[in-house]
This record gives sequence, structure tokens and C-alpha cells, in this order.
Amino acid sequence: MPLKIAIFASGSGSNAENIVKFFSTNSHFEFPLIISNKADAFVHERAEKLQIPSKTFSKDDFSSGEVILNLLKQHNIDVIVLAGFLLKIPTAFIEAFPNKIVNIHPALLPKFGGKGMYGAHVHQAVVDARETESGITIHYISGNYDEGDIIFQAQCPVLPSDTAETVADKVHALEYEHFPKVIERLWGEL
Ligand code: GAR
Repeated sequence: MPLKIAIFASGSGSNAENIVKFFSTNSHFEFPLIISNKADAFVHERAEKLQIPSKTFSKDDFSSGEVILNLLKQHNIDVIVLAGFLLKIPTAFIEAFPNKIVNIHPALLPKFGGKGMYGAHVHQAVVDARETESGITIHYISGNYDEGDIIFQAQCPVLPSDTAETVADKVHALEYEHFPKVIERLWGEL
């Protein structure tokens, strides 16, 4: 039976696209749905090109959970991948998908995590703190922002000359390289 993954994304969706393309020749992985909380997110255009239905739900739909969980059930979704998804995942989702929801965070948790820490804000905080390295963290979702068990981390150097933009480029490169492989390792065929 193929493994069905729903991707949740709030923004550009470059990780979503990278993951779908990585598995395009692997029939064990299917991507029946991309879900967003933003109707104008660029991820919808990427989804259309990838021929994956994408849907937008309100913050209230996410908090109550019911409508989205029913949709995930209808599509027999096994796993949820958060690829740049910015809302907190409510307990109902975690209970319905125990150890089946993974998130990528663009820094080395537990540093630079928590509410408001997403995308460019994270990279700016890393630069402002004069960190000498940053990286990515892939982790299971728990009830709190950025706090579930860590599955994988990878590092990149941060130089004094780096800006939030250049750090973002390095972090994105790590995300593209590792996120699909970690998903494959977790749920690929033995
Ligand atoms: C990624 O860098 C991801 O790690 C980050 O949002 C970006 C989305 O980029 N996620 C968070 O900050 C979650 N706290 P994308 O839309 O191009 O994939």
C-alpha cells in the first residue's frame, strides 16, 4: 500500500515542491493533498503545476480540527508533513496522527524556536545573536511550538559577513537536501 502524505504549507512552498519531486519516481509515496492557511500563498501555484489539489482553511478550521481531519480521513492520509506551516497544530491532530506529523524548523532547536520564530525572523535572530552556526531541525510535533522529539539536525556555518538572506539560502539548501531523505528513512519501504 502506498503511503499517503498531506503537506501543510503557509508560504512559498519550495520545500513542498522539492519533496514531491524527490518522490516522483517512487510509487510508495503519494501526495494527495496540499493544505494551507493562506489563500494567496505561492504553494497553491506550485501545487497546480504538480497536479496536486490544494485547499485553504481558516485559522478556526485548524483550531477546531473537525473539517480538516475529516478531509484527511477521506483521502486516507497516513502522515502529515509541515513544510513552512506557521499555525500551531492542535492536539486533535496530534492524537489522530501520533508520531505521524513532522515539522522542519530553519535553525538548530532548541535555539531560535517558539512562537513568532519562522522564516526570516529566525535567520535575523541568528545573525543578531552573532551565532557561528545555524542549520535545520526536523522533529515530531508536540503540543508546543518547536518542541517535539528531534529526528534530525544538520548544520551550516554562519560567518560575520552573513545576513539573514544569506543564512536563509544556506538553510534552504540543507532543507532541500535532507528533508525528503529523512521522510524516506522514516516511512520508506524496508
Ligand atoms: C522553511 O525554511 C521552513 O524551515 C520554515 O519556513 C520556510 C518555508 O519555506 N519553517 C518555519 O519557520 C517553521 N517554524 P518554503 O515555503 O519555501 O518551503
